Amino acid sequence: MRILITGSSGQIGTNLGLRLLDAGHEVAGVDLRPNPWTPRLPTRILDLRRPPAELLAALKGDAWDVLVHFAAHAKVHELVVHPDRALENVVDTFNVLEVARARGTPIIFGSSREAYGDVGEGLTDEDRRVVAKSPYSASKIAGEAFVLSYALCYGVPTLTFRFSNVYGRFDDDLERMERVIPLFIREVAAGREVTVFGREKVLDFTYVDDCVTAVAAGVERLYRGELMNETINVATGRGSSLLDLCTYIGEALGKEPRVRVEPTRPGEISRYVADIGKARRLLGYEPTTHLREGVHKAIAWQREWRAGAR
Ligand SMILES: NC(=O)c1ccc[n+]([C@@H]2O[C@H](COP(=O)([O-])OP(=O)(O)OC[C@H]3O[C@@H](n4cnc5c(N)ncnc54)[C@H](O)[C@@H]3O)[C@@H](O)[C@H]2O)c1
Repeated sequence: MRILITGSSGQIGTNLGLRLLDAGHEVAGVDLRPNPWTPRLPTRILDLRRPPAELLAALKGDAWDVLVHFAAHAKVHELVVHPDRALENVVDTFNVLEVARARGTPIIFGSSREAYGDVGEGLTDEDRRVVAKSPYSASKIAGEAFVLSYALCYGVPTLTFRFSNVYGRFDDDLERMERVIPLFIREVAAGREVTVFGREKVLDFTYVDDCVTAVAAGVERLYRGELMNETINVATGRGSSLLDLCTYIGEALGKEPRVRVEPTRPGEISRYVADIGKARRLLGYEPTTHLREGVHKAIAWQREWRAGAR
């Protein structure tokens, strides 16, 4: 298979690209910036905010069996401060859909559990109504709506995945994008205090290899025409508080974490645990890495990466 990944220099795009290459597929990437993690992913530097005609011209001559659209401004709090970037996410998605329509290519869209807003107790399945609690969330809901409309009006085969706190590898470029797990690992390791925004916050943290296993299964099934036009949660079905997370990091590092608790910030959700029954049913998906074990793996990866970078 030939697969084009947008946002291929980012965390999930890099992990997916390498997984697909290892499985023997042809993979090309598109991103605003070169890949900082690996030389193995051929990356075309292209700004997806450019009009579709320009994107099509730039991509002329390439042929793909599946397009995976992950490019986005992906940080909730940043988009509360800069809501114009949420609109850019929608423009990127529209432009990529136009490319998919013009080329007749099936497309996968990387959405988010943020589409659900704050959900309260219990497991959240895909039928729950969506709520735009933040501009980022609005950008994902709008992107999903465009994706569905392209399936219905133009027959573009699509799959939408709603990810949840993916962590574990190619994610500690904190100067570009602050993510809670690599940030907490770095701070606890350095003996610095960490700030937990929301004592009660419970989230579904997904080890990146589990996430990529689900997407890779989706790529195969979409390509073979066995699955299309579905929206699927990708997570673990298990919730952990940020305080649990600090405990696991402390255990793995052999350090006592120093934790300060502050109220949840505007736009952030405080509880989400996914119902992953649909992913199990449609993709044969079964996450294998519990957060406690995943934190160990993430720390091992960070050490290895930093040692190699020195
Ligand atoms: N990682 C998670 O926990 C998580 C959770 C929910 C949803 N998601 C979604 O999954 C997707 C992948 O997430 P990620 O963590 O790998 O994000 P990331 O920020 O690591 O990667 C996104 C990439 O998109 C690129 N990009 C942004 N705007 C672009 C543009 N106009 N043109 C070309 N490239 C552009 C960035 O340079 C970056 O490399 C995103 O759409 C994100 O919103 C991620």
